[in-house]
Amino acid sequence: MTELPPAPFRNPRARHGFRARTCSIAGVGSYVPSRVLTNAELEKIVDTTDEWITTRTGIRERRMAAENEATSDMAAKAAIQAMQSAGVTADAIDLIIVATITPDMLFPSVACLVQHKIGARKAAAFDLEAACSGFIYALEVGQQFIMSHTYDTVLVIGAEKLSSIIDWTDRNTCVLFGDGAGAAILQNRPHSHGLLTACMGSDGSKADLLCMPGGGSRIPASPDSVSSRLHYLRMDGRETYKNAVVAMYTAAQEALRRCELTVDRIDCIIPHQANRRIIEAVAERLATPMDKVYVNVDRYGNTSAASVAIALDEAVRSGRIRRGDLLLLLVFGAGLTWGAAVIEW
Ligand code: UT7
Repeated sequence: MTELPPAPFRNPRARHGFRARTCSIAGVGSYVPSRVLTNAELEKIVDTTDEWITTRTGIRERRMAAENEATSDMAAKAAIQAMQSAGVTADAIDLIIVATITPDMLFPSVACLVQHKIGARKAAAFDLEAACSGFIYALEVGQQFIMSHTYDTVLVIGAEKLSSIIDWTDRNTCVLFGDGAGAAILQNRPHSHGLLTACMGSDGSKADLLCMPGGGSRIPASPDSVSSRLHYLRMDGRETYKNAVVAMYTAAQEALRRCELTVDRIDCIIPHQANRRIIEAVAERLATPMDKVYVNVDRYGNTSAASVAIALDEAVRSGRIRRGDLLLLLVFGAGLTWGAAVIEW
């Protein structure tokens, strides 16, 4: 294995004299459906205004999947792009992890459907559910397989069709979410230290703040559960907001501490895109100017597990991120769950 040059940060993976194999993001990709749903259109569906949505959330439009387009369809398209950008063929993929809360069906997993769609014949496949935090959770899990030499190539995807669980009569939630997918290929690459650390956390005592109550083993689907609208996403927005700011800030501090980095050393912060005000509040606490923070919530709304993955792909493709840059990824979501990852690109 090629030795990496000494780095101006601490690599938390190199512990007790043992140097685990590093894990880099070798390529990224994303896909969003072509149908754009604007705030003006939402004004015709619920009692809302473009002015309220933009000032309270920063969202101007979001993408909606077609009726016959499911999460696995979007996931596969993002995956193919990531494979092209990494120069990897389907035959090389050892493992597929899909982070999602909107699978095509309860089982089998979206990952298995993607495995078939892209023809990754030798790949193992499973889904991971950590709501909007799913992409960082999946990166961390995928990385473990690379570090341990279990696998050489892991495909990680965040994909959601949130439009399928949105209550279009609830103005508190229906203006916030969108559909899409983002993907990354993980491999050991000699050019970088790659994923340096990922901090993950959870607090199930606040599960009720953001959930979909129906359709699981607690409340299986029934005529009653459908008429009570239990198969839609529900959120206490204000409480979720407060928890999001604190959790993302705290996770960021912990991730930076582990790498012995200060935030001014970070070239680009890619936070979960739920609300521009949340992103600004976290940046303010971190004492970071907004020009260091990648924001696309105005165009896609909150795409849950796909959000950071889509933003990362856009930032790379637009040249906002270059090889050698230090990135800080921040996520927060239902569970509650949260996380932060530091990456040398
Ligand atoms: O991805 C997982 C994490 N998710 C999040 O982080 C989302 C967190 N929450 C938020 O982003 C914000 O809390 C919201 C955007 C959901 C709401 O913003 P807010 O500033 O916290 O507003 P609020 O919930 O305190 O509601 C203020 C008012 C309420 O009216 P009253 O009760 O004060 O008369 C709402 O009924 O705004 C009303 N409202 C709306 N008005 C027009 C709520 N939704 C709308 C709407 N249009 N779409």
